[in-house]
Amino acid sequence: MTADAGTLLYLYRDCVFRVPDGVQPPKAGSLFFCRHLHVRAGERVLEVGAGLGLAAVLAARAGATVVATDIVPAAVEIIRANAALNGVTIDARLGDAYAPVAGERFDLIATNPPQMPTPPGRERADATAAADNGGVDGWDVLGRLIAGAPAYLVPGGRLVFTIFAFLGCKAAFARCEAAGLIPRIVGSESQSFPRIGYERLDHLRALDAEGTLPSGMPAGVERFVIEGQLP
Ligand SMILES: C[S@@+](CC[C@H](N)C(=O)[O-])C[C@H]1O[C@@H](n2cnc3c(N)ncnc32)[C@H](O)[C@@H]1O
Repeated sequence: MTADAGTLLYLYRDCVFRVPDGVQPPKAGSLFFCRHLHVRAGERVLEVGAGLGLAAVLAARAGATVVATDIVPAAVEIIRANAALNGVTIDARLGDAYAPVAGERFDLIATNPPQMPTPPGRERADATAAADNGGVDGWDVLGRLIAGAPAYLVPGGRLVFTIFAFLGCKAAFARCEAAGLIPRIVGSESQSFPRIGYERLDHLRALDAEGTLPSGMPAGVERFVIEGQLP
């Protein structure tokens, strides 16, 4: 970075976040996720795939003890820096899915994971791809997070995650139930159809088992926040 490269800042609620190169700025899905993330003071919270730490910082400011992970090293660094900028401490860790928290349990696991279905041969290893690409069917990361959640939740603990309608709400419920979680929708919202979704429209149509995509060009997409609770 050159000395006069400037600093990109993102303001949200009463917080300020630095947005470094290589970490995606918050998008509509990030704000939707934050709006439906209800954190109680004193809770132990894990955010998987925390990006620049938006939801993690808000949870810490609400009085939770927060562990935030990401698979991108620059994200882990900026989560720590953004926590300090907003007067809180977050335990930021590098790694895939639950690997950085082996043996630990949480009241709340929150994630807005990469979930854009990615046609074969279109995978990339950069940070933007890490933020968006969810494997061929979109479920690579989210599927593992749902299946693994009970081992990292206390009894009564919640897994809260976002999902695009074209991945399938019924499929998400079925995955939660198969893992032993009781699912419910806690929020839904129509958003602009994602740009990379247009680029991958044929691939998305081939996967859209619950028939959520219109036959013409989609103008928007429904997104959901789903909670799966461990009994
Ligand atoms: C859609 S972005 C969400 C970022 C942030 N939570 C938000 O809502 O703005 C997904 C994040 O998950 C991270 N990620 C991707 N694959 C991951 C994995 N296997 N384990 C942990 N984090 C991952 C990405 O680097 C990215 O920061």
